[in-house]
Parts: sequence; C-alpha cells; structure tokens
Amino acid sequence: MSERKIHTLSTGLAVASPYYLGEGILKEFPRHLEPFEHDRIFLVTSLPLLDRFGRDFSRMLDGAGIPNRIVTIEEGEANKSWRTLSGLCERLVEAGVTRSSILLALGGGVVGNVVGLAAGLTYRGIRYIEVPTTMMAQTDGALSNKQAINGQAGKNQFGLYHAPLFVWADVAYLRQEPARQIKSAIVEGVKNGLVNDEVWLEVLASYLRDGMETIQERLEELTLDLIRSKLAILAKDPTEKRDAIVLEYGHTFGHAIEWLARGSLYHGEAVGIGMCIAARLSHGLGILSREGVERHYHLLGDLLGTVVELPPGIDPAGVCQVMLADNKRTGPDLRCLLLEDLGRPYRFQGDYLVRVSEREALGAMVRPAGARFGGGAAA
Ligand SMILES: NC(=O)c1ccc[n+]([C@@H]2O[C@H](COP(=O)([O-])OP(=O)(O)OC[C@H]3O[C@@H](n4cnc5c(N)ncnc54)[C@H](O)[C@@H]3O)[C@@H](O)[C@H]2O)c1
Repeated sequence: MSERKIHTLSTGLAVASPYYLGEGILKEFPRHLEPFEHDRIFLVTSLPLLDRFGRDFSRMLDGAGIPNRIVTIEEGEANKSWRTLSGLCERLVEAGVTRSSILLALGGGVVGNVVGLAAGLTYRGIRYIEVPTTMMAQTDGALSNKQAINGQAGKNQFGLYHAPLFVWADVAYLRQEPARQIKSAIVEGVKNGLVNDEVWLEVLASYLRDGMETIQERLEELTLDLIRSKLAILAKDPTEKRDAIVLEYGHTFGHAIEWLARGSLYHGEAVGIGMCIAARLSHGLGILSREGVERHYHLLGDLLGTVVELPPGIDPAGVCQVMLADNKRTGPDLRCLLLEDLGRPYRFQGDYLVRVSEREALGAMVRPAGARFGGGAAA
C-alpha cells in the first residue's frame, strides 16, 4: 500500500516541535518515533478514547516492537484537576516510569493539557508526544506549549510551559467527532481571523457557506488552514507571552462562561459567546463599529451556527466574579482584549489588555430588550 501523505509543519513556538499531519497515518508513527531512544511509551488516554482509538494505537506499537503501557485518566473539563493530575503522576511512578520513558497523550485538549503538565512535573520534566484527537486540540491546543489544570476558582490556574517531542495529528480521528465539536473548534479559527487577518475570515466564511457536508469532504484542507491561521499569529510572538496575547480574544469572558457552564458548553462555544460580548464591549466603548459587531454575529451565529448568547442559567454578575480570578489578571481590575476593526485588536498605551470597569463589562453582557445585531443567531 502506498504511504499516506504527511504534512510536516512546526509548532513555531519558542521551543518548537515538529508537527505531523495527515489522514490514516497510524502505521507511519514508529518511523517518526525512531530517533528518540526510550525504555517505554506510556500511552495516556481516557476510557472512552481507549476503546475508540487507544487499543489500535497500542497494538500498532506492539506490532512495531515498541514497549508500551496504557494508562487511563478521567476526561471532561471537571476532571482537568489536581486530583486527575496527581493520580496520573503517582500511577506513572508506580508503574515504573523513568527519565527515559516517553508519555503519549492521546485525546482532546483536556487529556493533552493534563498529560503535558504531568510530563513537565515528573522528575522535573520528561518527554511526551501529543496525539490530538479533536479538531480543537489539533488546530489550537497542540499549537501551544501551555499546559494547565483548573483550580477551585477558575480555568487554567496552575500550569507550566512544556513542549512535546512532536505532535502527531491524524485527521481520521476527526471523522468521528460530532458536528457540534467541530464547530466549537472552528470558533477559534474565526477568532484567529478577527484578531489578525480579515482575508482569512473571508476564506473561512466560504468554507462555512458550503456547509458541514463540504467541510467533511475538505477536512484535511480545513484543518491545515486552521493551523496556519494560528501559526501566522505565533510567528509574531513564539513565546506566547507578548503579541500572541491576542489569541486570548473572547477568552476572558469565555473562560468564565465555560467555568460556570460546568460542562454544558464546549470550550469554543464559550469563547464564541465571549467574543460577541467583547465585540459589544468594544462597540460600547466607541472603539469598534456596529458593522464590526454584526460581523461577529454573522460569522458565528448565521454561518457557523454556534451559540452567540449567554445561556439563561448564567448570570452576568457571576461571570464578572469569575473573571476577577482570571489567570491573566495583573491587578485588581478587569482587563479585556478589544477590537478596533476586523483583524485589528485595540491597544491602549501599547497594551492589548485594556482595563474595563465591572459596570462596562456587565453592560456588554446584558443586552437591552429588543437589541439585535446581525441576522440573529442560531443556538
Ligand atoms: N493549551 C492551550 O493553548 C489550549 C488551547 C485550546 C484549548 N485548550 C483546552 O482544551 C480543552 C478543550 O479541548 P477539546 O475541545 O479537545 O475537548 P475535550 O478534551 O474535553 O474532549 C471533548 C470530548 O471529545 C471526545 N473525543 C475526543 N476525540 C474524539 C474523536 N476523535 N471523536 C469523537 N469524540 C472524541 C472526548 O472523549 C471528550 O468526551 C479545554 O480544557 C481548553 O482549555 C487548551
């Protein structure tokens, strides 16, 4: 059988890792692992993903004579926790992990984050490979060396930077993802356009106009395009600490909303709602035009069909409280990313994180009765 085409990219980060992407590339994995001496692979995944993909992966390793052991962790945002992390680290040690072992994270962003953090902490840092199985993890999470778990008061409060040996992204996995999850990942692609590239927004809009069926047909191409839309931003700041802060557009509100939604919203869905609020806030402060806000609603609501409104059970005042514990907070105030135009984040005195009052943030979340932007969004 002919070899599958593998695209070789780089995460483009300060500590950059090779990023391999293709469809149906499982058999090619041992060849890419070969340069890295190791005693054993610890394949870490969740129980549902073990049945879906994990056993095949382990069998492929067995077939290639690569010693491996499967370890499962709990999945879901609520389990991106100290409990899961410490449980994993202790079990790895118990199972005989050494400094020459390699962890392999097989799963979505939650598994990737927990395993990346465990790899960064175990014996002060061992190697790991990221095998992202969701579109969110392939196009966003794996293009970041940020590893984190959630705390009692909010998302991603405890973590570190740790780079994988390489990322292994098989588009075949994405074919099993529900449409809602694919849409949630595309939200981050919309964000990359909103903060960096209006032309990319047009390209993405044309994918969306073609509908989900065409997206399935062009899945590998879209995945590559989404990756490139993030790489274009990272190229300006591979450290993820300065200009790449624009990747957090919609995330101050989004993370708080995701936190309060307790699993009923996907990460991208919460970020989409967060971007609509940030756009309204930008407009309310006289920075962004009304058309700019409408474009958010059109892309996210009308074309993508994802959530654009705060769900009824989530109270704006509660969102403010959680935002005050946000991990990017540098003082007692709320600081948000705002847009002055599509593709152009706003800077105040050179800073992308702009101080806003609680009243202004609340005002952007509570819409006056009858107010309507764009074509009204689908839920
Ligand atoms: N480090 C970063 O920069 C970064 C960037 C983006 C997201 N994240 C984090 O990633 C997490 C979200 O990741 P996610 O969206 O991948 O969700 P997830 O990891 O919670 O996975 C969602 C669900 O998808 C299932 N799943 C995984 N692969 C599948 C497949 N191929 N087919 C069918 N089902 C599959 C999982 O079993 C799980 O139930 C959040 O915690 C977010 O904070 C981190």
